[in-house]
Amino acid sequence: METKNLKILYPKETIQERVTALAGQIYHDYQPEEVLVVGVLKGSFVFLADLVRELKLPLIIDFVRLSSYGNSLTSSGTVKILKDLETSITGKNVIIVEDIIDTGLSIKVLKDEFTKRQPRSLKICALIDKNFRRKVEIDADYVGITMDRDYFIVGYGLDWAENYRQLPDICSIEP
Ligand code: PRP
Repeated sequence: METKNLKILYPKETIQERVTALAGQIYHDYQPEEVLVVGVLKGSFVFLADLVRELKLPLIIDFVRLSSYGNSLTSSGTVKILKDLETSITGKNVIIVEDIIDTGLSIKVLKDEFTKRQPRSLKICALIDKNFRRKVEIDADYVGITMDRDYFIVGYGLDWAENYRQLPDICSIEP
């Protein structure tokens, strides 16, 4: 693999603070009800693992897998559900957990599909929101970090060509 020049943008301590704050907001909004936390693979797996361990609510976890980007720095604009839920969401409080919302295309497809299944409630929780990059109108209900500059970021679940997901900090790829 070609080695990239990485710079820490959000250190693990900052991420932990934001995750704790998000868990507090979610707890406040739902307690004492149960929630179904849906992770969008692969990028959300680290964030989801940290978030649910801070969330003192009764909850169950499921995953979906979407396709959109491939091994490229730009979006293809095509989103498909490659792996669907194993759980029915009808009548449940659903929180979709994303590592990042960029153009919004992925989360829009998922939200529209989930809405058809008639959950009791449906919200979106994103660790990182690049809202200036939106191509479709959609907002997350819970946002950890709002980015206003267009870095390509890796770490804490986020990848470059499947690499760097395991880094504890979120780093930018520098030229
Ligand atoms: C990333 C991220 C979101 C999506 C956001 O996933 O996890 O699902 O892109 O981009 P969008 O708002 O422009 O649709 P990616 O396709 O890179 O897959 P991965 O999670 O497996 O890395």
